[in-house]
Amino acid sequence: MPGLKENYHSIHGAIQESMHVFIEYGLREASKSIKDIRVLEMGFGTGLNAFLTLIEAEKQQILIDYTTLEAYPIEESIIGHLNYGIQIENGKWTEYFKKIHDAPWDSLTEISRGFSLIKVHASLLDFSSSDTFDLVYFDAFAPEVQPELWTAGVFENLYKMMNRGGILVTYCCKGYVKRNMQQAGFKTEKLPGPPGKREILRARKL
Ligand SMILES: C[S@@+](CC[C@H](N)C(=O)[O-])C[C@H]1O[C@@H](n2cnc3c(N)ncnc32)[C@H](O)[C@@H]1O
Repeated sequence: MPGLKENYHSIHGAIQESMHVFIEYGLREASKSIKDIRVLEMGFGTGLNAFLTLIEAEKQQILIDYTTLEAYPIEESIIGHLNYGIQIENGKWTEYFKKIHDAPWDSLTEISRGFSLIKVHASLLDFSSSDTFDLVYFDAFAPEVQPELWTAGVFENLYKMMNRGGILVTYCCKGYVKRNMQQAGFKTEKLPGPPGKREILRARKL
């Protein structure tokens, strides 16, 4: 992202952290009650969360409609160097990682039989949707870096776009972030973090 020296993922291991926060405490929790899940991701970035979600969906035989927002898509030259495909199960899913990145922006693409994707090239601050979501991956850069994305107003907007019973997960556990979520109407819980992080947050729309 222009002007920011932020890491897209934890230095403690991108795959491990995404699996812990978004798949374990987000997708696996949501899939206990629904098998056809509408996901909204804040921050497509390297596409890792989308990729891990597809793999999990294939294994669990659940259906995913995945909408992901990205204000500043990463450059083609960088995408070519991402090696998440080969890091997982000896490259078994690599073809899907490529398909996720090759999918055009702003149009619905079927990546696999159970996973359709729309990558929206827009800012979260301008985004609204008539669709409603069951699961939100809130994967913005840290609140110290982008405070405008972690406000009660932003969470209120997301709350309105979620179904009852919907879940929002994020790696951040700051007190004021939790209070902003509560102000928006969410019920929040702290959960154990991945290595290198003490706790994470999960919020529910009851
Ligand atoms: C922590 S990274 C996301 C990592 C990503 N989920 C992945 O799997 O690689 C945060 C992302 O949010 C994007 N971003 C920053 N401001 C944004 C905004 N206002 N709206 C949408 N995306 C934004 C950044 O460009 C960056 O790609």
